[in-house]
Amino acid sequence: MKRTWWKEAVVYQVYWRSFYDSNGDGVGDLQGVIEKLDYIQHLGVDVIWLNPCYESPDKDNGYDISNYYAIMEKAGTMKTWETLLDEVHKRDMKLIMDLVVNHTSDQHPWFIESRSSRDNPKRDWYIWRDKPNNWRSYFTPSAWEYDELTGQYYFHSFAVEQPDLNWKNPEVRQEIYKMMRFWLDKGIDGFRLDAIALLAKPEGFPDAADPNDIRYLTNNPGLHEYLREMHEQVFQYYDIFTVGEVAFVSPEEGLKYVAEDRRELNALFHFEVCDEMPNWEPLRFKNIQRRWYDVLWGKGWNSQFLNNHDHTRQVTRYGNDKEYRVESAKLLGTMLHTLPGTPYIYQGEEIGMTGVRFPSIDDYNDIAMKNKYEEEIAKGRDPQEVLESLQPLSRDNSRTPMQWDDSPNAGFTTGTPWIKVNPNYKEINVKQALQDQNSVYYYYQKLIQLRKENPVMVYGTFHDYTENEPYIYAYTRELDDVRWLIVLNHCDHANDYELPVSLAAYKREVVLGNYPDIQENGSVLHMRPHEARIYRLI
Ligand code: NOJ
Repeated sequence: MKRTWWKEAVVYQVYWRSFYDSNGDGVGDLQGVIEKLDYIQHLGVDVIWLNPCYESPDKDNGYDISNYYAIMEKAGTMKTWETLLDEVHKRDMKLIMDLVVNHTSDQHPWFIESRSSRDNPKRDWYIWRDKPNNWRSYFTPSAWEYDELTGQYYFHSFAVEQPDLNWKNPEVRQEIYKMMRFWLDKGIDGFRLDAIALLAKPEGFPDAADPNDIRYLTNNPGLHEYLREMHEQVFQYYDIFTVGEVAFVSPEEGLKYVAEDRRELNALFHFEVCDEMPNWEPLRFKNIQRRWYDVLWGKGWNSQFLNNHDHTRQVTRYGNDKEYRVESAKLLGTMLHTLPGTPYIYQGEEIGMTGVRFPSIDDYNDIAMKNKYEEEIAKGRDPQEVLESLQPLSRDNSRTPMQWDDSPNAGFTTGTPWIKVNPNYKEINVKQALQDQNSVYYYYQKLIQLRKENPVMVYGTFHDYTENEPYIYAYTRELDDVRWLIVLNHCDHANDYELPVSLAAYKREVVLGNYPDIQENGSVLHMRPHEARIYRLI
């Protein structure tokens, strides 16, 4: 397999508005990220993924861009951004920018022109129709919005304020490629490509049999031609990492995006976890890992993540954020860093931050949740019941401010934070984590260091020994004559795991574990609640 820096990297995602506020206005900013770069570097990560910070009316937290060439005022200035890039590079890290090219803001001058008249030269830069079809968008009951002025509907895969660009139009594509070069020429190291599977739309927009199954928004014919063109005209000229957000794909479909010989993207996030697996389902999760490995290995690259700014924090959703918060956070980290693919850490994950339940809908900010709330209330449902049903998966679970210390607002801001701080910040915070040698933070630091020193974690083949085991997940990674065994007890009680004969034959050496004192030599492993072990087999 071809060896590259981005396969070996660990990525840290910075949701800057919730990371650190340097000027007391209640919103995190780029200067705040600069001030905390030493912290990020100390963890050992290689790449920072920065959520969108382009000029934007901020209806969807920056995913509605109104000027691709400017920085949002809340985030800072272009100069601050350039300093950030410099400072990241000075620390031997890389920066990838989150870029949204499926849609813009309705305040983007292109859309303002497009909607101004039917014969405006930019009319065709967006998608206009006389009649809507029956599709939903991600955030609204219809994917079409009627525009009084010109008497037509425009198409939006997300909020009404996020009209989709018309990728069929070559002028649009050239304009986007130009803008991508602008950022790449500034020296960034790649892109996280938002909603990239949505670029192509089906001819004629036929009605869907089931409008609620929004798979129709993604993976439409023509998409891969666009991605190949993007690669040919832009990506191939830079040593960069491109990772696409690709919802609703099977491994076979996913491979088309990332197969090295197809020259499209380097890696993808698929959502068979997170979007499609609301709670921990061990057998399903293992099956997902095996299927993706079988199809991708040696041909294209995968990502390992269980949360980001759109998904409830992993220790709350897939682990135990109460009695076993620390053990469970470490177990999930062990798993993500030892499964095949590039591991992602979402800010705060490295200290075991948890999800949150705010008492009122007014405490929430997430446009997806708020729109859904309104939609359900309009059907006559009980508001409290609707709130409770939306809380577990609200995107705000992961958007609460980073918990730096136990001072007011968790040390995130001296002002009023744009979204409430998780009330548990007095116990869970960076200051505490840095003082405790057994913290999740130092465990993550070790995991990341291990990846740097042991190519087996990156390039080793993968074999799952526990397909049908509900609690224990045991798998190997092997590279040349190096053989690692990972054993995880994803469960609130202890479980014994009897090693298969082929594994029991080896001598074992502990590489890392989340409990002290592993002194077992026999073929049965007595795994404690949420225990994780990495062994070297010799
Ligand atoms: C995916 C992003 O991660 C999410 O936050 C955003 O709302 C949508 N794409 C629309 O851009």
